[in-house]
Amino acid sequence: MSETRNARIISVGTSVPETVMTNSDFERFLDTTDEWIVSRTGIKQRHIVAKETPTPASHLGMEAAGIALKRAACQPSEIDGIICATFTPDFFFPSTACRIQAALGCRKAFAFDVSAACAGFTYALTIANSFVAAGRYNRILVIGAEVISKTLDWTDRSTCILFGDGAGAVVVEASTTPGRGVISSYLQSDGTLGDILVLPAWGEKRTMRMKGNEVFKHAVRLMTDASEKVMAAAGLTLDDIDYFIPHQANSRIISAVAEQLHLPAGKVVCNLERFGNTSSASIPLALDEIWAAGRITDGIRVLFTALGGGLTVGSVLVCF
Ligand code: UT7
Repeated sequence: MSETRNARIISVGTSVPETVMTNSDFERFLDTTDEWIVSRTGIKQRHIVAKETPTPASHLGMEAAGIALKRAACQPSEIDGIICATFTPDFFFPSTACRIQAALGCRKAFAFDVSAACAGFTYALTIANSFVAAGRYNRILVIGAEVISKTLDWTDRSTCILFGDGAGAVVVEASTTPGRGVISSYLQSDGTLGDILVLPAWGEKRTMRMKGNEVFKHAVRLMTDASEKVMAAAGLTLDDIDYFIPHQANSRIISAVAEQLHLPAGKVVCNLERFGNTSSASIPLALDEIWAAGRITDGIRVLFTALGGGLTVGSVLVCF
């Protein structure tokens, strides 16, 4: 019998632009307040690329991936593939992943982008795991990189206050240790709900539009459902996880999902107060924080769950 191979996360790296935009900064040009933003979203500040010379997503992704490679003591030449989740690519093509490949010198790696909006990291990780499990590839960089500030309507107070720019990356490596790596993953999409969260590629108004209330309700329902399904598929219960890292969109969404899943607050990772919603980068940005705090050790189980425009939903259970 051939042995089971799973993709195991062996390191993480992140990068955010230097410029910090606080809630008070919005008060200068929008009818909003720090109090409203904090109480309705949990966000206090976000990092934003410079308006005049915006750093491209590939640059943030390259920086995050470079740190992840270093922490994994992995040479660029040892990487077999690069999968970058982004809805803010530098170009339609070449892909952001190809630009990161060139910048890092991962010469033998395949590279492509994944478009699944805020659920992108869970999709990219699932794809990487499938490549590894199939037996052909051993080490893959999985990246979420976004420059969302370029896509916002800065006069729309219900969307522009939510988002931040940034990137996160993990190195995954083939593991044959039973119960380690990606244990289970669940992806689902509902294109019939596509119009509640949209970023047009063409036309005059190419800025993000969102029916916030509707997204909120579907996010709570679908993230809860996906989390339950992935645990059931793994033959485990939510008591078996050490940490829950949900997509960081709104602290009220995170609390509602955690409550429905009966997860104690100590297991729920939330850092959106400093980064806002960074879409596909939000899960690795949160993972980086608990890893740096020494909370990721051998055998720790973490559940990643995200919802994004599409709608797309993804839940991935991993064991370190
Ligand atoms: O990553 C996945 C994508 N995004 C999400 O997951 C976001 C999901 N949705 C949300 O996070 C929330 O729906 C929002 C934060 C966007 C909005 O919060 P809400 O509690 O759902 O507010 P609402 O849309 O029901 O609006 C309530 C009021 C409205 O005023 P009226 O009509 O009651 O007079 C809005 O115009 O709040 C007003 N409002 C604001 N007021 C001050 C909306 N944005 C702001 C603002 N400052 N920034």
